[in-house]
Formats: sequence, structure tokens, C-alpha cells
Amino acid sequence: MNVEDVLQWADNSIFENTGKHLTPLQEAILTGVWQRQKYPQISNDFHCSESHVKKEAAHLWEKLGEELGEDLNKFNFRSKLEKKHSVSYCSHFGAGNCLQIEGDNAVNYSCQFITLKDPQTHSPSPPESPQNKNLSPRIDLKDAPAPAIFHNRTAELSTLKQWILQARTHLIALYGLSEIGKSAIAVKLIEDIQTEFDYIIWRSLSNTPTLANLQTELTQFFSQSQQPPLPTVLDYFRSSRCLVILDDLQNIFRSGELAGQYLPGYEDYSKFFKQVATSSHNSCVILLSWEKPRDITALEGDSRPARTLHLQGLGEHAGEILREKGLTDEEKWSELITLYQGHPSWLNIIASTIVELFNGSVSLFLAGRTHIFLGDLEPLLESHLERLSELETKVSYWLASQDEAVDISQQPADSDLSQSDIWQAIQSLARRGLVEKVQVGARAMFQLNPVFQQYIQCKFE
Ligand SMILES: Nc1ncnc2c1ncn2[C@@H]1O[C@H](COP(=O)(O)OP(=O)(O)OP(=O)(O)O)[C@@H](O)[C@H]1O
Ligand SMILES: [Mg+2]
Repeated sequence: MNVEDVLQWADNSIFENTGKHLTPLQEAILTGVWQRQKYPQISNDFHCSESHVKKEAAHLWEKLGEELGEDLNKFNFRSKLEKKHSVSYCSHFGAGNCLQIEGDNAVNYSCQFITLKDPQTHSPSPPESPQNKNLSPRIDLKDAPAPAIFHNRTAELSTLKQWILQARTHLIALYGLSEIGKSAIAVKLIEDIQTEFDYIIWRSLSNTPTLANLQTELTQFFSQSQQPPLPTVLDYFRSSRCLVILDDLQNIFRSGELAGQYLPGYEDYSKFFKQVATSSHNSCVILLSWEKPRDITALEGDSRPARTLHLQGLGEHAGEILREKGLTDEEKWSELITLYQGHPSWLNIIASTIVELFNGSVSLFLAGRTHIFLGDLEPLLESHLERLSELETKVSYWLASQDEAVDISQQPADSDLSQSDIWQAIQSLARRGLVEKVQVGARAMFQLNPVFQQYIQCKFE
């Protein structure tokens, strides 16, 4: 039983009793106590007072104690829970949705979402469709990040579920800035819809596997439980319901060129994605990338087999990140969130700065501000800048010098770039999530992401 199992169990219990999920602080308390940390350490890590942690912990022990029929406290929580659930844990573990290590071919199957209760009586979330549930799909998430604290994304999750479960979309590209939460939402999605599939596999393309190697890995995984083996990945897609997540797709795209173009030797991925989109089957491939693949444009649309989702910030829900960090002046949080566009990692980093320099006071951080403070965000922004083509870099510099969103239907007076250059570069920058479209009346205007704009301006100086 690991800490993720504990969080999952506790979240289900609290949700059933109160209709609310665990708060980030409650998760931190459970994680800390499970790892035998003391309250002062938990409050320190969470940047809040020890008395706040104690109060919240007492509430948790009471609620979870009712669920277990035990008097719980920080000393006995782990032993009571392990004892209580050892039987149901083993029986569920034996149901097939479990860890299996395959010796020779070194394929790890790991189930990261074990429900500790009887799944018949405690469904963690309402099923999307009652038929064809597979309570023990084969799952390989060894390349996926571990489930972590996750806020909101309700609208995006419901869109993705609608596309996958109702519209039966074959190919989905989920793109957005680095660390905006693409992997996190995909992990959450799997957690919610895993029983709809026979196979789920997550592969990162960070080591730039050739298509042939990737396909071999996929077919090896599918063939573990299906003999005789089928010739191709698409044969498995037809015979079973498979969900494949391909993460870090930008690694097989060219750097220094317009967005979403394959590296030499990797163009066959384009053909494969087209086959996945257009063939007849019941499976789904989700691509996670910093850049929208250029070739997907021809396949996407409401009644077409491919869709793209540009993942943006968390909006007001990013306040939870600030709460976790123990920031004060809540009335100023929305200003801070807007400034850093609800980007979870950016806000996390900036919140740490606010704790370090202003004891957590958002008002003091924002007071007298003349520009967007970047600090530790710079390396993240540089990794985007260094992937741009020469043309995109020029257009970014030009856009960064503009005070307002620009109208690209007219040739700009203050630029030596041709209209066609500007259009092409803006389209590509938008495919990287670096340029935003602003609606002004009936007109679409374009502007650089303000944080990226600040970075470019700093580079200019
Ligand atoms: N909805 C969310 N609520 C809270 N934290 C989040 C959320 N989404 C992402 N995060 C946190 O932000 C960080 C970056 O998330 P994640 O790794 O999913 O981003 P990514 O877009 O996949 O990044 P990359 O492009 O670098 O792979 C992680 O620490 C993650 O836990
Ligand atoms: Mg990721």
C-alpha cells in the first residue's frame, strides 16, 4: 500500500461523506503522516502555521475514523489503515489490475489507481457509460508522472471525456506551454476513464524513439494477454479498446523551424497518426506536446476523427496553489493569477519567491510593480525561445515592442517583415501557445503571451 493508494482511499471516503474532495492541505497531512513526518515539518513544508495543520488533522482523523470505525490519530493512522485494508487490498490486487514485472522483456505493468474499497459498492466517480466496463484493464504507466495534487480542469476533463467516450475520437492532440499541466490532466483522465478500456499504455517520446521501436513496444505490451500476437498496432486497435498516451511529442519535432514539423527520419509518425485518425477502430491515441502537430490540422474538426485542445491556465482555481503555499492577502490573488495566467508551475515558482522575499504577502509583491517579475521563470521561458525559427524570433521581437494586440490584416508600418512572413510566424507561435488571439469586436487581434513578452523585452535590453 503506498501513499497514492492512501490518498485515493481517503479522497473517496471524504467525498462520499461530504461531497468534497480532499484539500491540498489534507493531502499534505496524510502524505506527511504516512511518511512519519511530524506536524511542524508538515506545516513548514506547506508554509502554514502548525496550529492550522493540527486543526485540519483533527478534523481528518475524526472523519476517516468514522469511516474505519476506529479512533484515529497521527500515531496509529498508518497501522490501523494497513491492518484494516490488508484483506480488501489483497483481494482487489488479485483481480488483475495490478503490478506485474515481466522478466525477460522488462515490461512493467503498474496500476496506479487502486481503489481500496470493493469497487462494486464504492465507485469513485459515476461511470460515463454503463456498458462494456472493464474493471481490470491492462495498464502500463511506467512513463507517466505519479498522480499529484490536482485542481479543477473540470471543463477540459469533460471535453476530453466527451470526445473519447461519446464522439469516439481516434486522435487527440493536447498542446500547451511547458509545465502547464498536460501530463497531470492526462493522468487524471486515465484515473476517471480507465475502466472503459482493455489496454492503457503511456509512453514518453523524450528519448526520440523511432516509430518502428515505438510500435514494437506497443505490440509487445498488447500481445502479453492476447495470443497469437497480431501483426500491427492498428490490428490491436481494432480488436480491443486501447488508450495510448504519447507524451513529450515535441521531442520528435524540429527545433529552429516553424512549430510541429517532424525531425528528419521521423516523418513516418505523421503517416501513423493519419492512419490512427482515419482507420476504423475503437481506440484512442492522445498526444501531449508543447507544439500542435502541423499535420493534424487537416484531420481535425467537429465531425472528424481528430481533435486538438490547447491547454491553458487554471483560472481562479489556481488560488488553491497560492493557498497551499500559505500566501496572504487573498483579495489580491486574482491579480497575481491573471498576471501569471493561472499557469500552475509559474504560480508555484512565483509563490515561493513571494514567501522568500515578502513573507507570503501578495500585496507587498504587487505594490509598486512596474513590470512582470520573472526570476526563476527565465529557464522555462528560454526553453521556448530557443526552439523558435528565425522568422518567429523576429516576429516575437516585433510583437514584444507593441503596446497592444496587433491587427494582422494590415501591413504594419513599423516592421520590415512581409505580411506573409508575419502571418506564418503568428500561426506558428500560436501553435506553441506563445501568441494569443484577442477578439476586438468582430476582429481577431494577436498579442504575445505577456510573460513571454516580458522575457523578450528583458533580452532586448
Ligand atoms: N490542475 C493542476 N493542479 C495543481 N497542480 C498542477 C495542475 N496541473 C499541473 N500541476 C502541476 O504543475 C506541474 C507541471 O505539470 P505537468 O508536468 O503536468 O505539466 P506538462 O504540461 O506536462 O509539462 P511538460 O510540457 O514540461 O511535460 C506539476 O508539478 C503538476 O503537479
Ligand atoms: Mg508533461
